[in-house]
Formats: sequence, structure tokens, C-alpha cells
Amino acid sequence: MINVTKTYLPPLEEYEAYLKKIWKTNWVSNNGPLVVELEAELKKKLGSKHVFFTGNGTIAIQIAIKALGLTKEIITTPYSYVATTTSVLWENCTPVFVDIDPYTCCINPRLIEEKITPDTEAILATHVYGIPCAIEEIEKIAKKHKLKVIYDAAHAFGTIYKNRALASYGTISTLSFHATKLFHTIEGGAILTDDDELAAKISLYRSFGHVGDEYFSIGINGKNSEFHAAMGLCLLGKVSDFIERRKQLFAEYDHALKSIDLIRPTVPGGTIFNFAYYPVIFKSEADVLKVKAALAQQAINPRRYFYPSLNKLPYITGADSCPVSEDYAKRVLCLPLYYELASEDVTRISNIIVKSLV
Ligand SMILES: Cc1ncc(COP(=O)(O)O)c(C=O)c1O
Repeated sequence: MINVTKTYLPPLEEYEAYLKKIWKTNWVSNNGPLVVELEAELKKKLGSKHVFFTGNGTIAIQIAIKALGLTKEIITTPYSYVATTTSVLWENCTPVFVDIDPYTCCINPRLIEEKITPDTEAILATHVYGIPCAIEEIEKIAKKHKLKVIYDAAHAFGTIYKNRALASYGTISTLSFHATKLFHTIEGGAILTDDDELAAKISLYRSFGHVGDEYFSIGINGKNSEFHAAMGLCLLGKVSDFIERRKQLFAEYDHALKSIDLIRPTVPGGTIFNFAYYPVIFKSEADVLKVKAALAQQAINPRRYFYPSLNKLPYITGADSCPVSEDYAKRVLCLPLYYELASEDVTRISNIIVKSLV
């Protein structure tokens, strides 16, 4: 079976070395030494003043929304994982969808201003597939209209944009370290900010709103454990190898699929890309279903990332239409891409795709 991704597990001895440390300290959660070490390493790697390791990438977005005090409208992308939208809804805010740019698949900055109302408080945009949003345009609009910017950087670990980690932009950026991600901690995520006041809030909110026996605010449990931090510490030094291998596989897919008419998202200039996903936009939904069925026969499972367009979720009512996102969501497939994928499998997958479309 070949799935869209495969979780990389380090050599067992490497993880065991951290387990021994945990057994020695008998400290398993609540800001233990490995969590502190991982956060320090992430700060160095990502260049962000504050990094909070969280239980997952969804609670990271929710805490970001809470810390910014958002209660009304949040402009967001319809082309992302469902957690981007559900976090907004879960925090009792209203998502206002702005269609995507057909080249990058990220929110289209030229369409944002027409959706701003007196109730707009923030922009929540996803660097989809690890491709940078239109950072400069978004910051300009945010400044002009006094909006906060949250980047859902769940896919962005390892991407550098204009000499800075992509995950370090915005008022707050959030990451997911789920087992499906390029860099993972089994379950996990992070909240990044350079703002000290926000950081103080995030720190409290992540931990029930209390420090020791003192209760300062309402909070939630957004913490993560020593066992999860241990996985992160095992993998951090391997990220450049993961990216390098994916880059090779990317080139192999590009070559093997060049005979068919596909759209591939564009990575803007100034980016050192992380090659996190291999999305392919086919000519029609019928082609997607044909390709998916042909691959399934060989136990190969690409995913319809991202389908449906989030403005079309069954529990969203009255959202404006987003024609590009709705169209792409129907026509996209992410092909298998992971560190341990064999080049022969890329050839085999590509051959099945090409054959199924003739
Ligand atoms: C774009 C995006 N945002 C948020 C999330 C949520 O992250 P997690 O699964 O760690 O809660 C994901 C995860 O898959 C994602 O792809």
C-alpha cells in the first residue's frame, strides 16, 4: 500500500535515548525539559522570538484567535484543511471567504479589500502546500485597515521566504507537527509570535490560564508532552535531508508527468521551498476520479487535498462563492510524496496516471 504520505520514524535507538532521559527525570508533561529544549531549537531554526509547542495545529489556531481577542469577522481562505475554518467557527467568529490566486493557490490579495467590513478584525491565511502567501500585499492591507494577521503555516515548516522562515511572518503564525507533516512530533503544533504581550497571553491560555497555584484567566489545555517533544528532537536535524529527497522526487514526478496537461501551483520568487506536497490539478473532476480509481486498483492512495472548497462545507451557510477554489478543489489530487518513497514508485504511479488518461 502506498498512501499520500508515510510517517517517518527515526531509528528506535535514537528515540530510546530520549526515553531514557524521560525515565530519569520522571517528568512527562507540563513544560518538561524536552519541551523546553524543542522550543529553544525551534526558536533558533525559525527565528521567532516566542515559540509555544502545542498539542496540535488546530488548538494552535484557536489559541491564536483567543489571544488576539477576535470575536467577529475573520477573512480567510477557502482552500486549506478544514481545521483552518473550523477553528474560526469554534471560536465563535465568522469566516469570510476570499477566493484564491490561481497560480499559488493561496488567498488572492487583490480580492481581500472588497470583503472588509466594519466587523473585520483579522486575516487568517494558509501558506498552502508550503507556498508563501502574498506576504507583502497582505501586510499592506492589514496595516491600512488595522487588521491582525494569522498565518496558518501548518505546511510551511522548512520553507524560507526572503531570507526568513516562512513560519515567522504575521502577527502570529501557527504550525502543525502532525504525523503526516514534513517535520512531525506524532501529534503537535506550535504558535509563533514576536509580540511579548501576546506571548504572555498564549502562555497562559495554553495552560488553563494558571501558573502554579495562581489563576489569571480562562484557558484551555493546549500543552504537549515530553514524548512528543522527544520525537521532534529526533527529527529536527533530519529536516534538510527530508526536503532534499522530496525535491528529487518532485523533479521525477515533473519529468514523468510532462506529457499530460496539468496545472501545478507556482512558488513565488524569493522562496526556498520545502517540497511538502505534490499537488496536481487535472483538467476535470472526471479525470481525478479516473486517476484515483486506477491508482486504487494498485493500492495507491493519493488524497483530494483540498476538497471540498471550505466555503462549501455543509455547516457553512451563506458564504460567497469562490470560483477558483471551488474549481481547483474538484480537480486536485496530492500524489504520494515522502522521504522513503522509492523513485521506481514515482515512475509506476506516473505511468498509471498517464495511461488512465488516454
Ligand atoms: C492547513 C492546515 N491547518 C491546520 C491543520 C491542523 O493541524 P493538526 O492536525 O495538527 O491539528 C492542518 C493539519 O493537518 C493543516 O493541513
